[in-house]
Amino acid sequence: MTLRRSVVLGHGSYLPARVMTNDDLTRMVDTSDEWIYQRTGIRRRHIAADGEFTSDLAVAAARKALASAGKEIADVDLIIVATTTPDQTFPATAVAVQAKLGMQHGAAFDIQAVCSGFIYALATADGMIKSGMARRVLVIGAETFSRILDWTDRTTCVLFGDGAGAVLLGVSDEEQTLDDRGILTTHIRSDGTHRDKLNTTGGPSSTGTVGVVHMEGREVFKYAVGMITDVIDDAFRSTGLSAGEIDWFVPHQANVRIIDATARKLDIPSEKVVRTVEDHGNTSAASIPLALATAADDGRIKKGDLVLLEAMGGGFTWGSVLLRW
Ligand code: ACO
Repeated sequence: MTLRRSVVLGHGSYLPARVMTNDDLTRMVDTSDEWIYQRTGIRRRHIAADGEFTSDLAVAAARKALASAGKEIADVDLIIVATTTPDQTFPATAVAVQAKLGMQHGAAFDIQAVCSGFIYALATADGMIKSGMARRVLVIGAETFSRILDWTDRTTCVLFGDGAGAVLLGVSDEEQTLDDRGILTTHIRSDGTHRDKLNTTGGPSSTGTVGVVHMEGREVFKYAVGMITDVIDDAFRSTGLSAGEIDWFVPHQANVRIIDATARKLDIPSEKVVRTVEDHGNTSAASIPLALATAADDGRIKKGDLVLLEAMGGGFTWGSVLLRW
């Protein structure tokens, strides 16, 4: 029986310098700050500069995660990048990140689970650490979603933004209780029968093009809260912990209405919910580590706090992680 547990050693995030407000969008499509804010809670998003790639955002966040952990790249044996907007169709963005960080040992690969990518990446890293395959893993969510938006489609282009966040996971070999730090449980789900509700209009094998984001917003909304709360219930069932014991709820930052409806259904009080979507929109796989870094840096999330993460996105994919920070 393994006693190993993955522990968060450090965190970091990065947002590109250029800010696009809702008012800026009114000059591009027929929309308003009021419409966008009321339906989504978004006020602004960041847009990567020309020549600034997903791997650059990922590297900036990864460097901060290493610095906050007091570690060097030599201490890392695996890099996982969750992204839907890779620099190239291949190779993986993770190997670009590996090269840019000056790492030639270990391994690096991407995970594609759209907005649930960071949860999938954490679950994968946790499994590899528990099995002894890796001891220090940089888990990164990074996106340049602005590159796959149709900037004439007001139903999608107002929702998304660019950014990156990262955590460095290490291993604890001690015997553990639920009061000790680290990842307590991970749960991932998918159901591909919903894959046409949120997707891109192309791909290398189908059209030979990248495509742009297409979404049936009401359909996504209809399924989101139920799927998210189901997989959170799985986390509670497998640990015996309950919503009342959560210190911080850090959901995927897609839309405040989905976040608030989920928190209400779980009876998590509003003051325990981390919301950062207002400042960066939906950054897909980057949104959870961006929110985590914000709340850890401003002193809300402290060592030993019980933190609940969740996401739902294209596929559909969804998942939850329960951890002690
Ligand atoms: N500005 C102004 N009007 C708009 C805009 C816009 N940006 N976009 C759509 N509208 C119009 C529509 O054309 C429609 O007009 P009509 O009634 O004349 O036909 C009207 O607003 C209502 O459109 P709906 O799509 O029904 O608007 P709804 O209230 O459902 O809100 C939204 C749309 C915000 C996308 C909502 O469905 C939603 O939150 N869905 C969840 C999807 C989501 O968050 N996805 C993120 C990615 S998935 C994930 O991360 C979980």
